[in-house]
Amino acid sequence: MAPPFPVFRNTRLLAGEGNGPIDANLVTAAPKAIVSGLNRNGITWQSGAIPSAVQIGGSCSPSVEWPMSSSNTQHWNPAQYSKNARFVSDLGMPVVDWLDPRPGERILDLGCGDGALSRKLVDRGCEVVGVDASAAMIAAAQALGLDAQVVDGHSLPFENEFDAVFSNAALHWMTAPERVVSGVWRALKPGGRFVGEFGGHGNVAGIVAALGAALTARGLTVPDPWYFPRPEEYGKLLRSHGFEVTRLDLMPRPTLLPGDVGDWLATFAQAYTAALPVAERGDFIAGLVEALRGPLCDANGAWWADYVRLRFSATKPDAA
Ligand SMILES: C[S@@+](CC[C@H](N)C(=O)[O-])C[C@H]1O[C@@H](n2cnc3c(N)ncnc32)[C@H](O)[C@@H]1O
Repeated sequence: MAPPFPVFRNTRLLAGEGNGPIDANLVTAAPKAIVSGLNRNGITWQSGAIPSAVQIGGSCSPSVEWPMSSSNTQHWNPAQYSKNARFVSDLGMPVVDWLDPRPGERILDLGCGDGALSRKLVDRGCEVVGVDASAAMIAAAQALGLDAQVVDGHSLPFENEFDAVFSNAALHWMTAPERVVSGVWRALKPGGRFVGEFGGHGNVAGIVAALGAALTARGLTVPDPWYFPRPEEYGKLLRSHGFEVTRLDLMPRPTLLPGDVGDWLATFAQAYTAALPVAERGDFIAGLVEALRGPLCDANGAWWADYVRLRFSATKPDAA
């Protein structure tokens, strides 16, 4: 099986790299092709309507007026998440491998959701604390027998107590990343590891473009709810807090969806749909499914999301 859009190779930044420019064409060409596809499918732009994630070569940094998190408009429903988004934790297993958890280690799972990956860490003999901003997701994690607490990742309350902080598919929801990284640094013991994966530059750019265009057509705009940094930007942020960055990869990861892109939008794009009256949201999503069918649905009728992930491993030096 292959996605219906072109995919380009990973961008890898190793220790000591990442302060200079990278070739934006490596991973951004795929979203660019999807945006072209959208244009062919009848989505038209108005000036200024293209979301930052598809302004190829432009900055993806959050501007100061962005909300710190989309928690006002994005509501997590564990049953919906399990049905439409189980692939998120399933595809997080390589990040667990990067973490290389060892029995007896105390690990913080930041943005643990319903706890599927926290559970894997417990099964490997670790002592795990899961934190998440969603009370519903934390209740689901607790139902798995996990030590899970409602905590905003921007305000981590831990001091010098974890051997590792792990995070899968959550950091892009936290739009004041310097506060998150500060809290992770404080939470780690000297020598502790920060290992994670989240949406990187160009993530779901075709979907974001279609959402932006559809809202613009209705005279609406929505602040970008996501932080999808370039690798050099995130590496710089980690190093500015004192982390040694050991691995940092930006990787296109076309992702086969269990349903259609409408299910994905209903699960993840509530920051956009919330701009519309409830009665109009169904038609809005149905219109987007048709607009995205050409770029994201393959010849067999399977739907793919144009994910681009940023995966990293960093260490708080022993001397810190
Ligand atoms: C896509 S889910 C990933 C969940 C889990 N890590 C997994 O792999 O299945 C993103 C999670 O990030 C959480 N989240 C979003 N903003 C957050 C914040 N500011 N602080 C803590 N968690 C947050 C959401 O509540 C949600 O459970």
